[in-house]
Amino acid sequence: MDLEQARASLAPVWGRSWTLHVERGEGAYLFADDGRRFLDFTCGIGVTNTGHCHPAVVAAAQAQVARLIHGQANILYHDPMLRLVEALQQVLPPTLDTFFFANSGAEAVEASVKLARQATRRTNIVVFAGSFHGRTVGAMSLTTSKTAYRAGYQPLMPGVFVAPFPYSFHYGWSEAETVQFCLRELEHLLHTQTASEETAAFLIEPVLGEGGYVPAPAAFMQGLRAIADRHGILLIADEVQTGFGRTGSFWAMEQLGVEPDVVVMAKGLASGFPLSGIAARRELMQKWPPNSHGGTYGGNAVACAAAEATIRVLRDERLIANSAARGQQLIAGLRELQGRYPGIGEVRGLGCMVAIECVDAAGQPDGALAKALTQVCFDAGLLLLTCGAYGQVVRWIPPLIVTSEQIDEALAIFGHALAQIGERVPPMYDVTQDPLYTIHAHDSTAPTT
Ligand SMILES: Cc1ncc(COP(=O)(O)O)c(C=O)c1O
Repeated sequence: MDLEQARASLAPVWGRSWTLHVERGEGAYLFADDGRRFLDFTCGIGVTNTGHCHPAVVAAAQAQVARLIHGQANILYHDPMLRLVEALQQVLPPTLDTFFFANSGAEAVEASVKLARQATRRTNIVVFAGSFHGRTVGAMSLTTSKTAYRAGYQPLMPGVFVAPFPYSFHYGWSEAETVQFCLRELEHLLHTQTASEETAAFLIEPVLGEGGYVPAPAAFMQGLRAIADRHGILLIADEVQTGFGRTGSFWAMEQLGVEPDVVVMAKGLASGFPLSGIAARRELMQKWPPNSHGGTYGGNAVACAAAEATIRVLRDERLIANSAARGQQLIAGLRELQGRYPGIGEVRGLGCMVAIECVDAAGQPDGALAKALTQVCFDAGLLLLTCGAYGQVVRWIPPLIVTSEQIDEALAIFGHALAQIGERVPPMYDVTQDPLYTIHAHDSTAPTT
């Protein structure tokens, strides 16, 4: 096989940071064709929460492949889907008891919007600045994390309105100020751009993913729930990246003390098999007329069997508790590094969904630093991704089976990368003298508009 030629025949639209040809994955590691071993803290963008090729997931999929691969959902029922429904009912609030399955996150997001429109008989959707909901035209219209995702494709689907997301570090305000501002602006949006009577849903990521790994404060989410209830607007939680233990609880919404009307799931659901879904109250789902939505492959039998095994592994191996503990260890280690390197403007995260935001000497987003750090880590055998509007955030997405030793190993590699690259930042640079520092340090005198 002429690898170079085959690679050249893949569409360049798949942008890549490096050339990596992988032969196999096992647990937290990927093994390249040239013999190199990589500690995978990308998890295929938050998918392989149970690690690569977990034996229980492999066994469930292998057994199902020999029994039934494709059982189309309009034509028949199959056991793996029904068993998955039971498994999901155990981990969701009892009211979210009815399901629709698709293949990708974007499809599930679009399904949630179609459900909301049918169930409320309203057209408009409010999303939050910096969100990523996928790349199909509908999902892209709901996405505002980077202009690159929309450029060249606009105009997009109408009826989408963007409210501010409570990203305190970006605004340079305290959490309380940011929450107050964002809730006020949302109410303002309902009075100036999309009337509540024509607004079907608020669609939100409980932790902004592609937009920079920013957890929404509980006070914001609770305020959002209250506004939604007041106006009969549905609250849709896009837990595509945050679900399945990623944030140290099964769903991120659990930690925010709010129950959504619809949960969107994908990624970690089936440990890498293409499967997504939405869960909602039966009464809502009953307002979605038969055949007004569907799909050939949604709820594929092998993917459903893998998903049921995934949920079992998360429970039996106590991976959600591990996600919380390893996430705390990672955040503590990164905060220690932050004390030594002013290029780390903020360390934040929930569970094993952790980020550092890189800033330059003027306190501005530093995408070049983030990119350089991930490159040096790659060379040292640690895979990390960036995110954020300027590529200024390094995100840490270890598998939830990660050990404390592997977290220490990753921190050591990152520490070396900082030592190598961090020298670009003048060592005597005193961040506290920077006028922007007071803003980022959440000074109460910070601007409030
Ligand atoms: C929060 C969120 N929603 C939706 C999507 C889209 O998922 P997919 O790429 O499977 O279509 C993503 C993908 O990164 C995501 O992070």
